[in-house]
Amino acid sequence: MRLLIDTTEQRLVRYDDAGNEAIYDLYSKEAFELLSMQWVRLGWSLKHEYTFSWMGRPIIQLPEDVMRVQEVIYRIKPDVIVETGVAHGGSLIFYASLCKAMGKGRVVGIDIEIRPHNRKAIEDHELFSYITLVEGSSIDPGIVSLVKGGIGKDERVLVILDSNHTKGHVLAELKAYCDIVSPGSYIVATDGIMKDLHDVPRGSKEWSFDNPFEAAREFLATRSDFVLEQPPWTFNESTLDQNITHWPGAWLRKL
Ligand SMILES: C[S@@+](CC[C@H](N)C(=O)[O-])C[C@H]1O[C@@H](n2cnc3c(N)ncnc32)[C@H](O)[C@@H]1O
Repeated sequence: MRLLIDTTEQRLVRYDDAGNEAIYDLYSKEAFELLSMQWVRLGWSLKHEYTFSWMGRPIIQLPEDVMRVQEVIYRIKPDVIVETGVAHGGSLIFYASLCKAMGKGRVVGIDIEIRPHNRKAIEDHELFSYITLVEGSSIDPGIVSLVKGGIGKDERVLVILDSNHTKGHVLAELKAYCDIVSPGSYIVATDGIMKDLHDVPRGSKEWSFDNPFEAAREFLATRSDFVLEQPPWTFNESTLDQNITHWPGAWLRKL
């Protein structure tokens, strides 16, 4: 595929691999979506998502994904947010800050390895009282039952999967944690964008099929109690309707 950005004629020309061309108004929704995908791919190659922090801790996410998950958390008001994949702890601190602001909720973070300096920074953080850290593989049956054992049966639960992003691991996580997700809430298989990054620098060929997007699709094919849904935007005075995201095909809502 080739894209020609013509700022003089104010148009975007897309050529497919067979050489067929499609012409868009440069200031149209379609052009915005096509260019945004290239922006995401370029940003990935330059580690754009590795440049943000939340209240002092690195958060490895695109800002739009952080904003969108905030919209969902404020709407759902979960009692418990479970996240697999802690890394530096920025996403846990972000969820904890929302819990504190809402006066509701707590956060459980699971990681196969919580490096000592990260653990210390998270434990020393002013929001640590909202957070429980669990060290171990997110699909280890002992870890799964430890996490589930800490959640009451009437609690409203949101689950975010951001650990090992292979299809097999994410599918195992979806199966392991789907039963704690409350009706109306979501289990989120993040980083499905890997399917669109297999041919960029820092990407990998296998990502075209080995990715969270495929895991979510396979999970959905066997379940009638979950639907794929980009969460509705709380506010929208534009004609746009698609997230610019690392999480395409990620949001599975429990019916
Ligand atoms: C992308 S990072 C998490 C980023 C974090 N959620 C954030 O937003 O800043 C992925 C993390 O998953 C962890 N991880 C990898 N395999 C895992 C597994 N089997 N179980 C739990 N965590 C795992 C890694 O140690 C790493 O810290």
